[in-house]
Amino acid sequence: MYNNILIESLDSFGRGIAHINGKVIFVKNALPEEIVDIKILINKKRYSEAIVLKYIKLSPKRVKSICPYFNKCGGCHLLYYNYLDSIDFKYNKVKDLFIKNKINVKNIDVVANTNYLEYRNKISLKIINKKIGFYKDSTHELVEIDKCLIANSSINKVIKCYKLLNINNGELIIRVNSNNEILLIIKSSNNNYNIEIEKLKKEIKLVGIVYNNKVIYGNDFYYERINNKLFKISYDSFFQVNPYITSKLFNLVSDNIDQDSTVLDLYSGVGTLGIIASTKAKYVYSVEIVKNAVLNGNKNALLNKVNNIKFFLGDVSKIVNKLNVEFNTLIIDPPRCGLDKETIKFIKDKLC
Ligand SMILES: C[S@@+](CC[C@H](N)C(=O)[O-])C[C@H]1O[C@@H](n2cnc3c(N)ncnc32)[C@H](O)[C@@H]1O
Repeated sequence: MYNNILIESLDSFGRGIAHINGKVIFVKNALPEEIVDIKILINKKRYSEAIVLKYIKLSPKRVKSICPYFNKCGGCHLLYYNYLDSIDFKYNKVKDLFIKNKINVKNIDVVANTNYLEYRNKISLKIINKKIGFYKDSTHELVEIDKCLIANSSINKVIKCYKLLNINNGELIIRVNSNNEILLIIKSSNNNYNIEIEKLKKEIKLVGIVYNNKVIYGNDFYYERINNKLFKISYDSFFQVNPYITSKLFNLVSDNIDQDSTVLDLYSGVGTLGIIASTKAKYVYSVEIVKNAVLNGNKNALLNKVNNIKFFLGDVSKIVNKLNVEFNTLIIDPPRCGLDKETIKFIKDKLC
């Protein structure tokens, strides 16, 4: 145990950073300027990971987390940080990354959520021995829940009646649109199911159930309308999880597309940003790796009466050099792992 340790800053995962004898210590659930007693859990050559045993001095930016599962479930990491201060933290992280990589961006605007609760339109839950919840951080230990405060209220209705699914063990993904229509995606090692669909339909607006990649009720897709654009979304296609921020993102894309530009939209999902760009651009080329998302993209172009967009199916890193298309505007919205070396080189060669 180490006493009276000063937390100096936060790392990108939201862990407090402290130093003991020059060695970096990452401390969970600790904010800058706090003084804490800690216990080291993991001791590596270059750094250690620790937990707080006692708070000696609390940060004025600390708030009491309203979630009963906070610090138990592996979900939200910064719920103990005042929302506006947590945005400030993220803003500085982005700014520092730009500076570190010598990218000259004049203004970084932050779009805050109007409500930082009940916004998520998708969550993935585990069911173990008939109990439902999330995994505890970095473990396969279930933290049983009866609601998730950041999920749309219709998702919480499903959690309330999940026993109607009669699943002993597996994964349940719940997706919902702004009309509260629900698509359930279930993965289980047991191929036999016994879902009480009629009872479920009395509780929620069910549009489909996909069980081990097979549709067993309704459809394997749903629709979402954002900024007057309609999108078909298959069960395995990506869609932005926060509809309010998605609407703002669409406006941002639209505001930054010049008339007559030619756009390359990498990691295009169901074609959202490309379709928004297409309303101003001369032409849009979109690249996406998930087949259903590309099919959705083509359908979404039709639904939104867009005829100046072309979708390519494939891995960006492998096909981007073979596309042979001229563009002067780039949209990149990669998955969490970020851009790979080949794609970074392609972008640098083309645009720098
Ligand atoms: C963060 S999402 C963005 C989607 C879209 N821009 C939107 O806003 O809805 C990232 C997308 O990249 C796709 N993806 C992941 N790895 C890829 C790769 N190597 N090549 C092409 N697409 C990829 C995912 O399937 C997902 O649709």
